[in-house]
Amino acid sequence: MTTTQDSRAPPRRGLTTTRAPFVESARSRGDLFIAQPYELYDDDNQETWRRLCRAIEALWERCACARFLDGLTRLRLDRDLIPRLDAVNAQLVPVSGFRARAVSGYVPAFVFFDCLARREFPTTITIRAGDRLDYLPEPDIFHDLAGHVPMHTDRVFADVLARFGDVARAAAERAATIAAPARRRSVLESNIRALARFFWFTIEFGLMRSRHGICAYGSGLLSSAGELVHAVSSPAVERVDLALEHVVDQAFEIDRFQPLLVVVDSFESLFDEIGRLEAALHAGRLDAVRDGSPAVGDVDLHSFAAAADAAREAAS
Ligand SMILES: [Fe+2]
Repeated sequence: MTTTQDSRAPPRRGLTTTRAPFVESARSRGDLFIAQPYELYDDDNQETWRRLCRAIEALWERCACARFLDGLTRLRLDRDLIPRLDAVNAQLVPVSGFRARAVSGYVPAFVFFDCLARREFPTTITIRAGDRLDYLPEPDIFHDLAGHVPMHTDRVFADVLARFGDVARAAAERAATIAAPARRRSVLESNIRALARFFWFTIEFGLMRSRHGICAYGSGLLSSAGELVHAVSSPAVERVDLALEHVVDQAFEIDRFQPLLVVVDSFESLFDEIGRLEAALHAGRLDAVRDGSPAVGDVDLHSFAAAADAAREAAS
């Protein structure tokens, strides 16, 4: 993406997903990890954050799992002003070692998972436009900071995220041992699809059983007032127990409310399931998962292939 902004002029204000000159400049320079230039949020951005919080906070009390509500309190997440990542991290790092790290846009799959292994969570700093409050074609700071990051105060959940990173690294190292390029590509494509599906049905859209019934811990639910209630209480949703072999073969769609959601009993059981995911990877059971969404793009494939090349070089 190009920008017409004069590089000597101060960046124009506004960090809206659809219009953010600062972020567009960073992308044009190829800078993925960036600062959060807080002074660039304009009044509309702040108003959007306030309205999003107001629309969902009562639903959080009703539908979110207790660990998420604890996380909101621990982080002292501001409902009136867009939070500063530094302030959030000051609360978060001592608890679980995780930190939110600002990014300029899409993070290639391996880079994303590798960040998780290092206990860094790539965090979008732009916010959706005020006229599209419940429509989210791509992540924004409300999804990342209000939907994901409060969960990172839970130590077991944080361990789950870091384990995702370990499994991604294992996939790249394993791919490095496959000599034939076509075979390596098809294995990686299948492994990435399996990982993305597992992540989607747990971290993004996961439900948990609790003493009070079904509650939500997935960030896609916790950052959407409309979908949160639907996910927890609509009879139209099929809710199934987490079963590794089903999840890795289960396609999903991103542009409508999820008709199928996966329920776990605890984050400890989810952590154990990631161990089984890694065992399945090593046994070759993720090498030919069912076709279908998500599509694995070249950017994601290349990010894993580059990690595999680096692993091969390190081993030689
Ligand atoms: Fe997300």
